[in-house]
Amino acid sequence: LSREMQRKYLDIAYQKSQRLQKLIEELFGFTKLSYGHVNMNVTKVDVVELLAQLLEESYPNFQKNGLSYEFISAKDHQVIEADGDLLARLFDNLINNAIKYGKEGKRVNVRLRSDAETVTVKIVNYGYIIPEKELPLIFDKFYRTDHSRTNANGPGGTGLGLAIVKNITEMHHGTVSVSSDLSGTVFTVKLRIHFEEDRENFETSNGLKVVKQNSTSSGMPNAKKKHSSKGVHGNPAKPKGAAGKRSKEALVHE
Ligand SMILES: Nc1ncnc2c1ncn2[C@@H]1O[C@H](COP(=O)(O)OP(=O)(O)OP(=O)(O)O)[C@@H](O)[C@H]1O
Ligand SMILES: [Mg+2]
Repeated sequence: LSREMQRKYLDIAYQKSQRLQKLIEELFGFTKLSYGHVNMNVTKVDVVELLAQLLEESYPNFQKNGLSYEFISAKDHQVIEADGDLLARLFDNLINNAIKYGKEGKRVNVRLRSDAETVTVKIVNYGYIIPEKELPLIFDKFYRTDHSRTNANGPGGTGLGLAIVKNITEMHHGTVSVSSDLSGTVFTVKLRIHFEEDRENFETSNGLKVVKQNSTSSGMPNAKKKHSSKGVHGNPAKPKGAAGKRSKEALVHE
């Protein structure tokens, strides 16, 4: 084999192994979210900061796909009671889908608004429109649209992302919905600001038993702090105006 061909096959093997690795990770994660009990570690999470951070982390992926993003939130901070790691996973799946399926759309919009009880996050991409008859199916595990399955150049995937999104949303007593037409494909996640204490132990629609972790067992690893509500109160040494301005700038990325 020529050096060039060796390189080519090595690349193919590497890509295949990466895809397999991803599938294994997703199946493992899904199994954990699908069977038995799931412990939730409910703390105060700043969803504005969380989304800003996740978008920033995805910046190379946006760039690679010729996309820009815009994050608009009426507030600089919005703290809710939730499991930060699970929320990060939920939004990461939606952001990655918007990138993967919205390549032709040039941009992805993320909008956050809240009232006294709920936070609503909309993730919007343009380009491919999901046929109406497939819309109710895409949250099923392993379901991929005809377009995703048949388009030879289309993006790979396992069809677990949205099933995970739905599970995590339900674990938080929230809702997730989708619409797709010429004005864009919109995923809307509604989350409660206060976690319902009286529904600590419950089952999601697909039989996942959720157990809220009580506060006495909080010896969690440091990694849990990654998406915590740090910075909610700002740096007391900095004047309020400056802190506000800084985070506003960080919110919009064109
Ligand atoms: N933002 C979107 N725009 C258009 N179609 C979408 C979007 N998000 C999801 N879909 C469609 O819904 C299907 C299911 O999405 P899901 O995230 O569950 O699986 P996947 O992206 O195919 O694979 P995975 O997320 O497991 O890597 C996708 O295959 C795609 O056809
Ligand atoms: Mg996906």
